[in-house]
Amino acid sequence: TVIMGLAAGSAATLAGTGAALAAPRGLVFDKTAYTTLTTTIDGKAVTYRFWKNIVYVANPVDAAYQSLNVSVPVTIDGKAVDATDAPILFSNSVGGYMPSSVATATGVGGAAMTGATGAGGVASGGNAMLGAGGEMVSNAKLALAAGYVVVEPGARGRTLVTSGGVYYGTAPAAIVDLKAAVRYVRANRGRIPGDVDRIVSSGTSAGGALSALLGASGDSPLYDKYLRTLGAADASDAVFAVAAYCPIADLEHADMAYEWVWGKNKLSTGALVDQTVSRKVAAGFPAYQKSWGITDTESHLLKTYLQPAATRYLASLSASARGAYLAKNTFITWKNGQATFTWANWLTHVGARKKTLPAFDAFDLSTGENNLFGTGTTKARHFTTYGGRTIAADIPAKLDLMNPMHFLREGTTSRARHWWIRVGTNDSDTSPTIVANLAAGLRRLGDDVSALMYWDAGHGANEDAADLMTWIARRK
Ligand code: DHB
Repeated sequence: TVIMGLAAGSAATLAGTGAALAAPRGLVFDKTAYTTLTTTIDGKAVTYRFWKNIVYVANPVDAAYQSLNVSVPVTIDGKAVDATDAPILFSNSVGGYMPSSVATATGVGGAAMTGATGAGGVASGGNAMLGAGGEMVSNAKLALAAGYVVVEPGARGRTLVTSGGVYYGTAPAAIVDLKAAVRYVRANRGRIPGDVDRIVSSGTSAGGALSALLGASGDSPLYDKYLRTLGAADASDAVFAVAAYCPIADLEHADMAYEWVWGKNKLSTGALVDQTVSRKVAAGFPAYQKSWGITDTESHLLKTYLQPAATRYLASLSASARGAYLAKNTFITWKNGQATFTWANWLTHVGARKKTLPAFDAFDLSTGENNLFGTGTTKARHFTTYGGRTIAADIPAKLDLMNPMHFLREGTTSRARHWWIRVGTNDSDTSPTIVANLAAGLRRLGDDVSALMYWDAGHGANEDAADLMTWIARRK
């Protein structure tokens, strides 16, 4: 757990925060420091080398979080595997913008979950799916069984606080840590197994947003001062590709996006949120959409994502199962192998919205995101100017550091060019426009984007992990 991690790993460095820094380390990957493990993943017998708890910065603030694990396949079903030039799945396990540690993991895909997440969220950072045997399989494990190298970084998160009450894992700590971990990997080109020019960043929810941010902000100088302070390796932090599941991104626009989509949906209590406030929060959203080239958001979502998701789902069913589904869901018209329906009927079909109003920047500062933008001994702060309130002077720059859309607006050249983006159509942890805008922003820049929604799936869904592994293999 978080508490144990602090006690075991970092009392000395924490005590030193703001005073003497830990002794610099070489940040050289020790090829020989592995143990050999065996496991069964998705029905395959996998033997692999496991490097554990490598601190990836010279001056850690909290080594219990700023460390990574490396897993490299040696044999798969008895056949020797050479992973020297294999893609590297860089799989974070961040959920809820909480701290995530891999320090005590005993094998691949074993990051400690920190439990509760942001405003009513459910931890889902492992990209879990059901494997052939019905067991939970993560992208990390499936990548290993596909012959890839797997790097699992820990990262600081919003709730970390010193005994003196100072928050040291709030924005931009988590992205700075992930960048430092990428730099460590790239600085060890030729020592660490795998192709350091084919790093694929994977994550879910907050971890999906950070994965997208990592991809969008490669080598941005905006993070330099933070990386220097940590003693990050002197190497590129650009990644090759991104897999982002239900990213909780674009936080400063998430409240307007949320009300614009879910504003008229009741809470699970059956209550409507204040419709006047909801409309006021949503007011700027159409203009914001236009800034991404989307003039009709309803039709964009219906035609690009929602109807195709229903179509794929219904096409995958047997004729009788499809008939049963359509009989229960008469709002769907099924014709010539295509599902169509109206926006209003889809909203009714989804039902209860998960979050209260406003969803991200709460009036009472109670959300995980308010905590994410805390600083010093202040646990939580506002980060939107709703109602004309002023926000602290450092907030706009921190919002940029946390938002992939900021970098897509600028079109930075070191960004990832290959993107796998997924979200469930029932996921109201944020607005479905977050994913749609991310994909639109990337396509506008000419990137290779696979973006789709999983019909009727909720928060954290990952229903085509095997396809991701194939997709990675085909990208060079
Ligand atoms: C997560 C979920 C949320 O609803 C949120 O606001 C932030 C993060 C998550 O599951 O990581």
